[in-house]
Amino acid sequence: MLVVGGPASAELARKVAQLVGCRFVEVEARKFPDGESYVRLTREVKDEKTVIVQSTYPPQDTHLLQLLLLVDAATRSRASEVTAVVPYMAYARQDKVFRPNEPVSAEVVLKVLRELGTRRIVTVDVHSPEVFSRVAMEHVNLSAIGILARHFLDLGFKGVSAFAPDRKAARMAEEASKILGGSYGWFSKQRDRVTGEVSMMLERGEAEGREIVIFDDIISSGGTVMMAARTLKKAGARRVYAACTHALTSRESYMKILSSGVEDIVSTDTIPTFTSKVSVAGLLAETLRSLL
Ligand code: R5P
Repeated sequence: MLVVGGPASAELARKVAQLVGCRFVEVEARKFPDGESYVRLTREVKDEKTVIVQSTYPPQDTHLLQLLLLVDAATRSRASEVTAVVPYMAYARQDKVFRPNEPVSAEVVLKVLRELGTRRIVTVDVHSPEVFSRVAMEHVNLSAIGILARHFLDLGFKGVSAFAPDRKAARMAEEASKILGGSYGWFSKQRDRVTGEVSMMLERGEAEGREIVIFDDIISSGGTVMMAARTLKKAGARRVYAACTHALTSRESYMKILSSGVEDIVSTDTIPTFTSKVSVAGLLAETLRSLL
């Protein structure tokens, strides 16, 4: 097996290759003067099971296109099979037609990958795993909630409560609570599809006097986590932390989130950023070992 380090995830891919004990393939990447992307595999992949690790965080379109070009390069160079490891899958949140005449972007990404010859896709906490059942391609969606919860446990957070900002993420809070040994709860959340405005209500769980970690798949603008943190503080929470798999936050929104009463944000390296304190490399390596 070979692990190719896509330009968006070279460091993560190198760690995965080391943990699996297989060869790492560097990618030559640059931009043409007009802004188009160029990639090239720096070694032969013929007859090799080839794993391309490329997250598709911002700039999403560039990272996504680099991924597609790498898959094409590998299949064209006659890799025996291609696995796309896409730790953060862009466009996953548009997983259905919310308003008339919209595309289903998540399906588009998967269909193009399949068309180019991707045998399977591995994602981490993809927004809506249901989308995979609509596109015939082997898939594995991993959860980073366990490693995030263990990070807090290692810091001495035993017994803290885990909360999810919406009903869909409640299973994340439940999973984390099993590791942290505290209670769990969740909010009900509505988002206006046109204005994007969010409203939220505490649906289950006690906040009074508690230390709480809010778990979610993504923190983007921070609107969701800030609203959850404010509500928990109002309900008497002592301290509130936030953990997410994918942090799309800028330094500016990070500071805004802290000013809403969140002590700190911890994320993984699916998106390498200043809040990435937990690596998904072990999780990916273990999965690849069992798959290939
Ligand atoms: C929504 O369903 C997701 O799980 C996240 O809660 C959401 O995408 C976070 O976005 P933001 O930080 O912009 O509120």
